[in-house]
Amino acid sequence: MRKIIIKNFKKQVSLISVCLLSMVTAVYAQSPIIIKFAHVVAEQTPKGQGALLFKAAVEERLSGRVVVEVYPNSSLFGDGQEMDALLIGDVHMLAPSTSKLEYYSKQPLLFDLPFLFNNFEAVSKFATSSEGKSILKSMESSGITGLAYWNNGMKQMSANKPLRVPRDARGLKFRVQASTVLEDQYKAIRANPRKMSFAEVYQGLQTGVVNGTENTYSNYFSQKVHEVQKYMTESDHGPILYMVITNTEFWNDLPADIRQTLSEIIDEVTIEVNRQAYELNMNDKASILAEGSTDIITLTPEEKEEWRKAMQPVWKKYEDVIGTHLIKAAVESNQ
Ligand code: LMR
Repeated sequence: MRKIIIKNFKKQVSLISVCLLSMVTAVYAQSPIIIKFAHVVAEQTPKGQGALLFKAAVEERLSGRVVVEVYPNSSLFGDGQEMDALLIGDVHMLAPSTSKLEYYSKQPLLFDLPFLFNNFEAVSKFATSSEGKSILKSMESSGITGLAYWNNGMKQMSANKPLRVPRDARGLKFRVQASTVLEDQYKAIRANPRKMSFAEVYQGLQTGVVNGTENTYSNYFSQKVHEVQKYMTESDHGPILYMVITNTEFWNDLPADIRQTLSEIIDEVTIEVNRQAYELNMNDKASILAEGSTDIITLTPEEKEEWRKAMQPVWKKYEDVIGTHLIKAAVESNQ
């Protein structure tokens, strides 16, 4: 009798376990994968638009299976926090500028070498070359996978005094992104660089913690930098280029068909971001001029050559850490 009761009890327990397991599996199978995509800029910028295009395409083609949550304007994580958040899985995709990856790989510093690329097209050409693509893989040992490059555009300098030649910048404090190349670039012209997160730039300029900065027109306009900078100099001395990155383990653990579709979407969005970015920046340049508070200085070829001569010596220090083969390939992308 006792034996029969125990046997029945065991049967019931295993039945309950099977039921519970299938309920859990059903819930799990139904719950979509959440991809949190955080960035630091405004939605109307090239990166802001790219993140929204990605979300729309994913939710159309992977409807019910993947949900993308986009967090713009440092609203989830800002500079200095977002990389750690990616590594611990609190966020799944980011698109930091290549200037902010130095801690994980020295190779992305290439893009900060002043006057390496003549224009937007040369940056895009290098980014799609085999050497450019190899840099996407340079952080795998840290658990970070590069998926694509999104090109914002070329940087211009700004200050409250006209910057026509390098000596005009002497002694001024410039906000830079977290890159030692960018620090050295300003030291080369005897200015004082100061690393500062993107979210702090407007206030930093307004309060005089820094006197000048560098960025694209879309970042200037969307952050209202024209309200606190009287002059911008169209120097085109380097790009703001984003690396769309993910946590390697998260990416590799995705079901293969989902990963494949996400890759295809990222490739399509990349083409669209790069197609729109130049025009977006030119529209924002026109909007800055229309505000009437900021003069945009066009350099003569001779003036531009002075900036190049003053800043380019910075390359020497980084040749070995970045790799001369990468620098050579980047120079060739100008042809
Ligand atoms: C900056 O910090 O100036 C840029 O990297 C911001 C951005 O993401 O465009």
